[in-house]
Amino acid sequence: MSNKLIARAQGAKRMWIGPALAAATVSCSGSDNSDIFGILDPGASAPVEVTQPEPEVPVVPLPPVSALEGLALTPPMGFNDWNAFGCDVSEALIRETADFFVSSGLKDAGYTYVNIDDCWAQRERGADGKLVPDPVKFPSGIKGVADYVHGLGLKLGIYADAGTLTCAGYPGSLGTEALDAQTWAEWGVDYLKYDNCYNQSDGSRADFVNRYTAMREAIEATGRPIVYSICEWGQSQPWEWATGVGHLWRTTGDITDSWSSVQSIIASNVALAAYAGPGHWNDPDMLEVGNGGMTSTEYRTHMSLWAMMAAPLIIGTDLRQASADTLTILSNPEIIAIDQDALGKQARVVSDSAGLMVLEKPLASGDIAIALYNATDELAIVRAPVSQTGLAAASAYRLHDVWSGDLVEAASTLAAGVPAHGVVVYRVAPLPSVAALPPSVSVGGSLATLISGVAEGASLTLTAENHGLSAVTNVALSVTAPEGWTLTAGSGSTSPALGTDAALTATWTVQVPQGTAAGRYPLSVSAAYTWGADNQQATTLSELGALVVVPPPDGMTLLSALVPVSSTNALGPVERDTSNGAQTEGDGNLISIGGQVYTRGLGTNASSRVVFYLGGRCSTLTADVGIDDEVATGGSASFTVYADGAVVAESGIMGADDPARTLRGVLTGATLLELVTDAGDSSDGDHADWAAPKIVCGDSTAPTATEQTLFSFEAGSEEWAVANAGIGGSMAQSAAFHTEGAQGLEVVSPTDGNWFGRVLPAPLDLTGRTGLAFDLKTGAAGTSGEFAVQVGTGPTPAWCQGGRWLWTNPSSSRTIRTAFSAIECPVGVTLDVTQISAVWVFLKGGTFNIDNVRAE
Ligand code: GLA
Repeated sequence: MSNKLIARAQGAKRMWIGPALAAATVSCSGSDNSDIFGILDPGASAPVEVTQPEPEVPVVPLPPVSALEGLALTPPMGFNDWNAFGCDVSEALIRETADFFVSSGLKDAGYTYVNIDDCWAQRERGADGKLVPDPVKFPSGIKGVADYVHGLGLKLGIYADAGTLTCAGYPGSLGTEALDAQTWAEWGVDYLKYDNCYNQSDGSRADFVNRYTAMREAIEATGRPIVYSICEWGQSQPWEWATGVGHLWRTTGDITDSWSSVQSIIASNVALAAYAGPGHWNDPDMLEVGNGGMTSTEYRTHMSLWAMMAAPLIIGTDLRQASADTLTILSNPEIIAIDQDALGKQARVVSDSAGLMVLEKPLASGDIAIALYNATDELAIVRAPVSQTGLAAASAYRLHDVWSGDLVEAASTLAAGVPAHGVVVYRVAPLPSVAALPPSVSVGGSLATLISGVAEGASLTLTAENHGLSAVTNVALSVTAPEGWTLTAGSGSTSPALGTDAALTATWTVQVPQGTAAGRYPLSVSAAYTWGADNQQATTLSELGALVVVPPPDGMTLLSALVPVSSTNALGPVERDTSNGAQTEGDGNLISIGGQVYTRGLGTNASSRVVFYLGGRCSTLTADVGIDDEVATGGSASFTVYADGAVVAESGIMGADDPARTLRGVLTGATLLELVTDAGDSSDGDHADWAAPKIVCGDSTAPTATEQTLFSFEAGSEEWAVANAGIGGSMAQSAAFHTEGAQGLEVVSPTDGNWFGRVLPAPLDLTGRTGLAFDLKTGAAGTSGEFAVQVGTGPTPAWCQGGRWLWTNPSSSRTIRTAFSAIECPVGVTLDVTQISAVWVFLKGGTFNIDNVRAE
């Protein structure tokens, strides 16, 4: 086995030593595969020393040893359906996406591969042992789709798994590598994403190397140039061994459409710069740009950092419905040029401190791309001294902002005011003469938390810094707030002139009107200035986020419904209404302590601190606290409640096996409430839950919004049925998962899913309700679905549907909700909530548990 792999590793080299020398020397001039030698055969004698060829013997370069050599010399660019569609892949989607590549100009921008992810095959192989495309999803087969895509001058990718099954449970390729690779080659496949589920692995690196090398050899044996994308989530540190095996390798777990996911992937992938280069790339996973879970600023950061990290640019959104903003981000030619630069360097980290990171990517032209990245929640000026970068010494530099197009000059500091979660990317080159460009001026600032309707207001400070070689004149700072807000100027906001590295600071007081909803609001901030001999005008713009909090309403309020003043957590964000899960936002389960499931609460990972504004109007707090059941062993934390800094309730140390403890605290008169968890004796696994945390404020007798249970399944399946009887599906009461009472419903859905629910005996009036919800626990694979209601009383009430959702985590629970406003009726019908005659939920194939179908 190890000999075979050693031979393979040598085979991956581009330069071969001519036959005259082959017997006497072993060519392993690169260090790339040194780990393979060491790991696979630790007991074997050390690799033979490299001997230099005798000068008089000619070195004969042989032709490339494999069709896989010379591929992916720049990071692959294309599309993959998984992030936006999960298992809902089809021939129509792939063809329409390929068409769109051509019609939209994305093909011309460099996007080439149209890739099919999981769920394209039938559940069983054919009689000949071959993988069979699902004939419903792919009526023309993969070959037909490949022909179509090739006809457009594009390339086709497919997905398989180095295990017994794919992640979604379709046939895996472990042990059938040769047959499967041959099948794909015959179909005309150009790209393979090779996953890692059901891998039968002993966890050793040797096993990973063997499984992924077996497929490399199988593809190579076909002779077809297929880009080989290793997807083992960084588990065996593939960057250390997979050069020469795959053209790219995933470095992390799956991305999700959330800022916390993007932020955490950046943090791990930036450290791997040394391993990337032409034909061997770090893959921080596919793009989420356009999927709706992030702001435009965050999507630009996602795209920019992927380009800086020389990452594959694989679009993961439904392009057919993409907004102009999404297409602008995906097709920015300058950012693509940075990603695709021929030098093939991944950016190195110049500095990284308190959430502000500077990255530098050398480019083939001799220019350098600099990213000033702000991972914090506040506007910040990010600065990079030129001396810390690889830029040649010069008196000044030309900075080209690749998103705004602005061109400015800077002396010895590259800087910008970067909004929260934002990035500024400059293409930088030494500048012989500064006369023609405006000096680089950065705007920063900070604003205290605003309290809706409070007269004193909060203090705002803005700063403008000149980092140009030339002075700037007539500098004026200004701020624009949403309509109705009051800005009162404090110290002077103008300066006649600022020399190199000089700054101007000014203050304002900001008040928000009574009734302003809690949340983050953007304020535009700017510095206008003049420059040059003829006083040319220039302006630097940035954005500052204002946090508005609202005093809690009368009566009982769940804390998970309030916007906190601040929140810090040891792992990922504090989760609302689920446990902490892991790093990514929204990856937890319904909170469960000692077997009791809660649909409301805050999921933290100790140590954590969440602060709420009470405005002196609350009397009490109650919460059930404990370590979440998702922690199998270990894990401990203590829970403390502070009112204006004084302890009002505490749990003491709680372990993973303790049942929930109820904390009660008196809050009378307090302005701030703090919920604090402290890590116990272990450093991870401290999934500390605040279950159903409630405060009572103001008029304690005020009515509180409650939920209206429609189906609790306490009395059986409550006459639930399938909407399309012909395609199957079944339901039965089950105690395996329940979020109220003691029973829930187990649903078995056919492969392509079905609607489950019932026609009601009499129309239901849901006046005053905003939407529908139910609690779900997925089975071995995740699922996706939708809601539907029927309205009206005639013989065939109108069918209205919407609120599509996708939840790909296996064996995990969460509440699925939709607002009525997301449910669409046929033309001419309105969703009359007084006349609901049937309620349905769609569940894609599999076995699931649901409970507590309700109106909220
Ligand atoms: C894994 C991969 C994903 C996707 C799914 C498909 O989770 O990491 O990118 O391919 O499998 O089931």
